[in-house]
This record gives sequence, C-alpha cells and structure tokens, in this order.
Amino acid sequence: MTRVFSGVKPTGHLTLGNYLGAMRRWAAVDQHRSDALFCVVDLHALTVDHDPARVRRLSRQAASLLLAAGLDPELCTVFVQSHVDEHARLSYVLECVATDGEMRRMIQYKEKAARERERGGSVRLSLLTYPVLMAADILAYGTDEVPVGDDQTQHVELARDLAVRFNQRYGHTFVVPRATGPAVAARVMNLQDPTSKMGKSEDTGPGIVYLLDEPDVVRKKVMRAVTDSGRDVVYDREERAGLANLLEILAACTGGDPAELAGGYDSYGALKKDTAEAVVEMLRPVRERHKELCADPGYVEGVLEDGAGKARAMARPTVDAAYRGIGLLPPAGASR
Ligand code: AMP
Ligand code: TRP
Repeated sequence: MTRVFSGVKPTGHLTLGNYLGAMRRWAAVDQHRSDALFCVVDLHALTVDHDPARVRRLSRQAASLLLAAGLDPELCTVFVQSHVDEHARLSYVLECVATDGEMRRMIQYKEKAARERERGGSVRLSLLTYPVLMAADILAYGTDEVPVGDDQTQHVELARDLAVRFNQRYGHTFVVPRATGPAVAARVMNLQDPTSKMGKSEDTGPGIVYLLDEPDVVRKKVMRAVTDSGRDVVYDREERAGLANLLEILAACTGGDPAELAGGYDSYGALKKDTAEAVVEMLRPVRERHKELCADPGYVEGVLEDGAGKARAMARPTVDAAYRGIGLLPPAGASR
C-alpha cells in the first residue's frame, strides 16, 4: 500500500491555506487510500524565535484541529514529532549526506533568514538544517507520497535527492518520495497582500483566515480582501492576483473551476459574498468538532500516545538500517 506522510508546524493558528493546501486532502483522500501518517512537527517550530508555552499550546491545538478536520485514528496515524526519537536520530545521519550549499539554496531559508536579519535578530542554525529534519520525517517511514502545498515542493525535492544519494553511497535504504499537490488552491494568498502566501506566522492578521475564526470574522476578512481597480471578473493569476485568489478559494470550497466561476459574476461584491459564505460553511463542521474535542482533552492525548507508538515501530527498522549502512557499529545485543 502507498505510504503517505505529511506534517504541520505549530508556529501559529492554522489557516485556510493549511486546510485547502493540505489538511483537507489528507482527510478526504489520503487517509482512505493509503497507509498514512500525519504529524504535528513541533521540532520545526523551534527554528525561529519561540515561546515554549505557546508552542505547547499550539501543538495541542494543531493535533485537535487535524482530528476536527476529519483525520480518523482508525484509518491513519496522528502523532507529535518530538514523541518519536527516530526523527532527530535520522536527521543527524542525513546531515552527513546533505551539503552546506544545498541548504543555503532553500528559498524558505533565504526568505526567513533575511527577514530575521532585517529585524536585527540572529538566525538559528536549526533554520538552516530544517529541511534535513523534514527529509528525516519523510524518509524514516519509507514514504512514497508527501501531500503538501506549493511552498514545500523544494523541500520534498531535497528529501528525494538525499534518499537517492544515500542509497547510492551506502546501499538501498530509503524509498524515494514525491510531493503531491491539490488541483486548486495549492498556494492560498494573503487576502491583504495577494502577492504573498497566507502564512500562519505572518503578522498581517486581517489577510489571514484562521480555521477557528468566528463566521463573522471570516466574512469581514473576505469582504475586505484587496482586489484591484478593474470591474470585470476574470481569472488571471498574473495580472489580477487578488481576484484570482478569491476565485481559487471559491473553487476549492465548492469543487468548481476558477476560470468558469469567473464567468458567473459581474461584480466583485457578489463574488466576495459567495466566497465568504462558502468558506464559512466549509469551516463550520471543523469548528464544531474542534469545540467537542476541546471538551475531551483525554481523547486527543490518547490518540497521540497510540499514534507515537505506531509511528515509532514503523520508523525504527529504517532508521536502524541507515545507521548500519552509513557505518555505525550496532550496539552489542542488537540484531544485525
Ligand atoms: P505549515 O503551516 O508551513 O506547517 O504548512 C502545513 C501544510 O500546509 C504544508 O503542506 C503547506 O504547504 C500547506 N500550506 C501552508 N500555507 C499554505 C497556503 N497559503 N496555501 C496552500 N498551502 C499551504
Ligand atoms: N516544512 C513543512 C511546512 O512548513 C512541515 C513539515 C515538516 C512537513 N516535516 C514534514 C511536511 C514532512 C511534509 C512532510 O509546511
């Protein structure tokens, strides 16, 4: 059976971008047709300035939201990255396969490091090595497919390169994974700045729809989305980015096609109104289920505990094989 792995970072409240670009497909498709693992990748949240209590809170919330979005622990494995040592264990070995130049070429590193320096802050070494840890997340499980939004494809490419390189040098150990993306809304843009991604760690709150926003807040954010001074409704990602973003969001919510949907509107107002309602209705069950789960924290903890146990058992043999392959001596008593 196809093995699927994906993850979400607890660096902020989850957004409509996370949902449309990734989580929705995990729940609707991936968990049903594959042997899938979904992970709250908390170690990745330590690569930028962080508050320990907030990371803990957001990790719990992200886990509840994954379940609220429809991940079913009977069908897939849901767990927290730091509960399974194999990720960090494999990451070090992969650091011995990756190069410094390769890391510095990563777009996300360049952008985040530049932003940090602009603020006068320092760049954590873990921000540079982050894609190696992500490769370890993926490769530890013999993953075939990694369902992610657009922004992560370069990182998945790196995981592929490292798998191939390791296998060539040290013998076949890893499955070579590939990224899969959604048909529409692979990159949901910020409603206030349609040239930049709707990212949960950005500061521009009004342009970001959070999964737990109240319906009226969602409506307000969508109605105030930045468009342009044109009047006709056409789908053009290059020239009419704000409009295209709304059409893609509407298409993703209703299962339509952005260009076709554009033909049905003659005003921005009507498009915004329909988009707002479509988003509100899509998120309603997620919010409701999340509220129920919050009332039962023991359930979520139980799911994460079982998930970590299952994940550990899956990752261990591959990580052990990588340790042997690269030349590390097995501990006495370990089966060889
Ligand atoms: P992150 O929030 O960076 O941990 O991302 C978790 C998943 O959501 C990844 O697969 C991302 O590619 C996806 N994602 C995050 N933001 C967006 C966005 N604005 N549009 C589409 N996908 C996104
Ligand atoms: N880097 C991913 C992001 O920012 C999160 C992530 C970490 C991930 N490890 C992963 C995604 C492994 C897919 C597979 O969105």
